Amino acid sequence: LVDESMPKQRSHRQIPEGYNYTEYHPMEEIYKWMTQIQESNSELVTQHHLGKTIENRTIYYLQISQPSNKPKKIIWMDCGIHAREWISPAFCQWFVKEILQNYKSDAMIRRFLQNLDLYILPVLNVDGYIYSWEAERLWRKNRSPYMNGTCYGTDLNRNFNSSWGSVGVSYNCTSEIFCGSGPESEPETRAVAQFIEKKKTDILCYLTIHSYGQYILTPYGSTTTPPSNNEELMHVAQKAAAALMGKHGTSYKVGSTSSILYSNSGSSRDWAHMIGIPFSYTFELRDNGTHGFTLPSDQIQPTCEETMLAVTTIIDYVDQKYFPGGAVMLTSGTLVLLHGCLKETDLV
Ligand SMILES: *[C@@H]1O[C@H](CO)[C@@H](O)[C@H](O)[C@H]1NC(C)=O
Ligand SMILES: *[C@@H]1O[C@H](CO)[C@@H](O)[C@H](O)[C@H]1NC(C)=O
Ligand SMILES: *[C@@H]1O[C@H](CO)[C@@H](O)[C@H](O)[C@H]1NC(C)=O
Ligand SMILES: *[C@@H]1O[C@H](CO)[C@@H](O)[C@H](O)[C@H]1NC(C)=O
Ligand SMILES: *[C@@H]1O[C@H](CO)[C@@H](O)[C@H](O)[C@H]1NC(C)=O
Ligand SMILES: *[C@@H]1O[C@H](CO)[C@@H](O)[C@H](O)[C@H]1NC(C)=O
Ligand SMILES: [Zn+2]
Repeated sequence: LVDESMPKQRSHRQIPEGYNYTEYHPMEEIYKWMTQIQESNSELVTQHHLGKTIENRTIYYLQISQPSNKPKKIIWMDCGIHAREWISPAFCQWFVKEILQNYKSDAMIRRFLQNLDLYILPVLNVDGYIYSWEAERLWRKNRSPYMNGTCYGTDLNRNFNSSWGSVGVSYNCTSEIFCGSGPESEPETRAVAQFIEKKKTDILCYLTIHSYGQYILTPYGSTTTPPSNNEELMHVAQKAAAALMGKHGTSYKVGSTSSILYSNSGSSRDWAHMIGIPFSYTFELRDNGTHGFTLPSDQIQPTCEETMLAVTTIIDYVDQKYFPGGAVMLTSGTLVLLHGCLKETDLV
């Protein structure tokens, strides 16, 4: 609620008015936020049904599209695949707010919105997120029952159809990294995978937001063999990490999951790249272990501010690469990046 008697603190409007982006919100409030954000920004935002969870809740994504009669490409970003990583949904909401607040004044956002539609899924694992709020703060998986309901939860980020079940997983439902009964055994995984599969020729970039550890992770997790466009993937990620560090000095490591974190199979990032989406990254947001999954809410704002810079750096690069016509608006930093990279393009 907005106290109309208070003077406006900000020159730009809060969208929706009064929503506090620097605290964590339970699912019920995020559902309301999604409805309100589309109602108050109907020229740009539409809310779409993606699928249902195992407990029959609706998974929605928001589409930010500037009206246009020319063909556009898609940037996908999902948050909240792991229930306890609350900073992730907080970032997706922040991201949407920032885009809506600034697309008229920020030349970079204005330009990439001419070419790219942004598909944002604020909370993928809805059941797990609610369970983390109401029952067990550190819950990670979804809430599907196994073994006649004596055991709950599949790690949705081990359940995608990318070398499923081969490494860094468990077949025991009691495990945090239980990979499910088969690839895409879970409705949440299927909802994402079927949608991405359908749109894949238009999706240039797949971003999936996690915490914690301060990493930008490239494919793959299931093998140490680098993808064909590894050099470019690394280069863009390093550029993003540098932009991130420029804001508050937070240092991120960049590299493939299998080489700098651990091996895992069935991740959405690997799968997205394997089906042909050229730019696929996992973000592991703050912190690097002090608070871990229970990142204090006073770090939401700095975390989101710095992550915004990293994510828009990636989107801007992708925009420049596929829509070079916008080159008149390049910043000098981006020019250096482009000149350093376009030669070695080797996309799948
Ligand atoms: C938003 O929430 C944070 C954390 O609870 C609080 O410190 C801050 O005062 C709130 N902001 C507004 C405008 O209510
Ligand atoms: C799921 O919800 C829909 C309506 O939203 C209802 O028709 C359906 O019966 C529900 N299914 C289960 C398994 O609860
Ligand atoms: C599940 O329950 C059914 C019926 O009670 C039983 O036949 C089956 O063996 C049980 N399965 C497991 C894995 O416990
Ligand atoms: C997984 O991918 C393989 C090919 O890589 C395909 O044969 C299989 O049908 C896929 N499974 C699902 C559930 O999509
Ligand atoms: C699964 O793991 C639990 C906990 O470690 C163990 O008690 C149980 O025996 C395991 N089940 C199977 C089928 O291995
Ligand atoms: C954790 O991150 C902070 C901020 O970037 C940094 O100062 C610190 O050295 C990092 N600690 C470790 C153990 O990486
Ligand atoms: Zn995670």
